[in-house]
Amino acid sequence: MINQTLTQSDLYFDVLVIGSGAAGLSMALRLPATVQIAMLAKGTMDEGNTLYAQGGISAVLDATDSVDNHVQDTLIAGAGLCDSEVVRLIVQQGPANIHWLLEQGVQFTKAEVEDGAANAFGYHLTREGGHSRRRVVHAADATGRAIETTLLDMVKTRPNIQLFPEHIAVDLITARHLGAKESKCYGAYVLDKNNSKVVTWSAQFTVLASGGASKVYLYTTNPDVATGDGIAMAWRAGCRVANMEFMQFHPTCLYHPHAKNFLITEAVRGEGGILLLPDGQRFMPRFDPRAELAPRDIVARAIDHEMKRLGAECVYLDISHRPSDFIREHFPTVHSKCLEFGIDITQQPIPVVPAAHYTCGGVVTDYSARTDLDNLYAIGEVAYTGLHGANRMASNSLLECLVMATRAAGDVEGCLSKQLDMPAIPDWDESRVTDSDEEIVVAHNWDELRRLMWDYVGIVRSNKRLARAQRRIDILRREIIEYYGNFRVTSDLLELRNLVEVADLIVTSALRRRESRGLHYTLDFPNLDRHQQRLTELIPDTYIPKL
Ligand code: FUM
Repeated sequence: MINQTLTQSDLYFDVLVIGSGAAGLSMALRLPATVQIAMLAKGTMDEGNTLYAQGGISAVLDATDSVDNHVQDTLIAGAGLCDSEVVRLIVQQGPANIHWLLEQGVQFTKAEVEDGAANAFGYHLTREGGHSRRRVVHAADATGRAIETTLLDMVKTRPNIQLFPEHIAVDLITARHLGAKESKCYGAYVLDKNNSKVVTWSAQFTVLASGGASKVYLYTTNPDVATGDGIAMAWRAGCRVANMEFMQFHPTCLYHPHAKNFLITEAVRGEGGILLLPDGQRFMPRFDPRAELAPRDIVARAIDHEMKRLGAECVYLDISHRPSDFIREHFPTVHSKCLEFGIDITQQPIPVVPAAHYTCGGVVTDYSARTDLDNLYAIGEVAYTGLHGANRMASNSLLECLVMATRAAGDVEGCLSKQLDMPAIPDWDESRVTDSDEEIVVAHNWDELRRLMWDYVGIVRSNKRLARAQRRIDILRREIIEYYGNFRVTSDLLELRNLVEVADLIVTSALRRRESRGLHYTLDFPNLDRHQQRLTELIPDTYIPKL
């Protein structure tokens, strides 16, 4: 049910879900029909990273594969920083979650005997970087769209779930807002973009399912909504965050002046695509024996190295040696999008560059997706569970969304029966702010922040570049906080405030890691140091340790 205007007294729910991608939708569907749920989206309900996920979901679905194999591949990709218990737990629960998606009606691509990838499961399994086996179930090259639209349609049939598009959370409501000293969440202050009002939304349980923060970089495969809101809000509210230095750059984003954020799925390489220099030479075998199917950090760094060495604007990904019918059938989205730009991928290579793609770190959670604040959960890209370590293996993220949403729903269900004691929450106070007289500050700072992150905190880092970034972030941060204190909030301002917070967390974490590992590569410490084999955990001033 889509509901746009509610009065303040209506705004109490059992569960408030912030975000409407695979994680939020599956959590809402997993909760009993007696639970009153509100789900917020910053724009339309379907806009977010899930909708654009091309590749698929990894799970052990083939008789020749095993949980041990999937665990091992994930640990290798994660470069020694995965929590092996979490990895096993999530991998073990993969197949049941794929079957649940099939029950909801998600149409995955079926296996065909003649393409050599048939298996007893009956669905086509593709390969991606880091996977030693075919393990990725997919819906052609638009897997996320199939999941998002199917689950959203299911959610719309549930009378207990109300959907609120065009609503952006400003901050979590914690005991501090009530003058108390305990670590508990009571909901969120939310800006209704339809009428520009900030309203108090209280809930027994609040769930951050708000995605990652790749929009902090100038070039990204992500849609505009990926502004790290959940990470920044949780940090301000007193939650620990971890491993923020590990921002993943996808090796192959379409390079074309008129293409915005268009990913070329790794499955293209999984099905035989090779990377070429502008002169047509293949280069990946020089960097890693796994060549194009090495983990993403290695492929992205190799491309970055070759582009800088040659002064090239891009490299090329070529799948044109495969039969045209196969390409059109397996990659219809990539094929038609590239055609729009005059590139026929059945006949010619695709110009590609790396771009920011995935936030491996995030809000620290336990095995049930609980955060440091009681009654606050984090699921999906916003969370740090320990699955991805220093480098996420391809297609493990939708898997994490589904499994952790299921676990969070189970945990919430177990606690809901307890008596609720909801205190009176103060309303949002706008008495000391006015309308902005200089919106240009917001637009300018957005651009400046994203460019400096791209230039100084990208695929290859150094102490000097990170220090330069930190100095600039400090100035921007002060300016943005002052602006936030003086003017009425807008969606752009809220996102910018969150982005600068996340940028600060990324740079602080990157400066702490004095080695190169996984996605974090620095010229000052180019080698892996086994003594630093632990997560980078940041603790906010507002953190209240649990007794
Ligand atoms: O290349 C891709 O299709 C992306 C997959 C992923 O990020 O997991």
